[in-house]
Amino acid sequence: MPSRVHPGEFYALPQSPQLLKQLLMVSGFDRYFQIVRCFRDEDLRADRQPEFTQIDFEMSFAAPDDVMEVTEGLIKRVFNQMLDIDLPETFKRLSYREAMDRFGTDRPDTRFGLEIVDLSDLLRDCGFKVFADPIKKGGSVRAINGKGCADVFARREIDALVEFVKGFGAKGMAWISIAEDGLKSPITKFLSEEETGAIVSRMGGETGDILFFMADADETVFAALGNLRLELAKKLGLIDERRFDFLWVTEFPLLEYDADEKRYVAKHHPFTAPVDEDVEFLETDPARVRAKAYDIVLNGTELGGGSIRIHTPKLQERMLKAIGFDGEQAWERFGYLLEALKYGAPPHGGLALGFDRLMMLMTGSASIRDVIAFPKLQNASCPLTGSPTGVDEKQLRELGIRVKMGAKA
Ligand code: AMO
Ligand code: AMP
Repeated sequence: MPSRVHPGEFYALPQSPQLLKQLLMVSGFDRYFQIVRCFRDEDLRADRQPEFTQIDFEMSFAAPDDVMEVTEGLIKRVFNQMLDIDLPETFKRLSYREAMDRFGTDRPDTRFGLEIVDLSDLLRDCGFKVFADPIKKGGSVRAINGKGCADVFARREIDALVEFVKGFGAKGMAWISIAEDGLKSPITKFLSEEETGAIVSRMGGETGDILFFMADADETVFAALGNLRLELAKKLGLIDERRFDFLWVTEFPLLEYDADEKRYVAKHHPFTAPVDEDVEFLETDPARVRAKAYDIVLNGTELGGGSIRIHTPKLQERMLKAIGFDGEQAWERFGYLLEALKYGAPPHGGLALGFDRLMMLMTGSASIRDVIAFPKLQNASCPLTGSPTGVDEKQLRELGIRVKMGAKA
């Protein structure tokens, strides 16, 4: 691939704070941080705003452990000095796979149990089609033991929980309530005594518990049971609001398939390095490639995320190809990065903490809006300035923009 960088030519600045800090590592800085204002066009939620602030840093010659250590150091110091709270020396770690399997989400709230248990091996050949069919199609049957729920939830409340999980794509939810005088359940009639016994035993079911079952494609099972877990914890009062439970989630998938775009997209960003032993599958089995990426999670909220970056042009080109940028397109868009990497970039990596989310959690606020001056509304408009407002012809002319009648605002 010929070089596209010629002396005297003008090149656009890096498109993001991410590339800015990476290029600084390439140019010889070995440590860098920025408190950076970010603008993102995303759906708003309780922990998201279109304008927010990151504490963003990058280090050269760094492995994931180094980045995690710096992050833990910063957080421990802030908590100690601001809240007089001493956090553990190191934070817990879970792989993405384990986080999904046990909690149904990549940002688990680990202040309480109610973990998800896979029952697929026990139910693969059972006579109950609602369970057996999804397993045969590559999905699973998983369950949560709602400890002590039988004493708290009447039938009407169980029905409400079934409706609740339907909001996350579930088709239904089966349950077994373990009472003094035996099992109560709409599904035990479809299962053999051995099957029921094996389930109850694997779930550690005891008198007073309700077991909740979900059978579907994994994605749906995780979404439904992950949210059911939170809902049960709230209803059962299991969440200690004074606790700060930090957790690292590591080894995220490098790529995920985007059904709308009909291609793989980077799960973190396209500069994230694959785990060494998975690099060989980048072209043949992209979905199985894990990334050297890590998120820091606090009480079920993603507080920050980062990764070790690709530092050779060859691997960067392979990664860009995996997400649909062939050689030409990759050079057109990211030529300056590929070119810079050619000169011998140090291995480097970093992380960005969401400053506003950190403030939200440290102050016990329910929404990020409570800690941001002049937050935007759900539709991203600004109630203070009335933005966005109309523009006049002159401004449009200056920018070379023509508005077509009937175009969506
Ligand atoms: P990421 O996209 O994971 O990583 O963002 C890092 C952290 O920024 C915060 N954040 C937000 N906070 C409020 N509103 C939003 N819309 C919003 N979006 C993100 C979150 C999140 O964990 N450049 C990479 C970091 C890296 O690779 O070093 C990045 O931005 O707390
Ligand atoms: P049905 O055969 O549709 O009457 O369902 C029998 C029981 O299975 C009911 O309690 C349903 O709520 C439950 N159920 C239906 N679909 C699912 C599913 N995908 N996962 C778990 N339970 C389900």
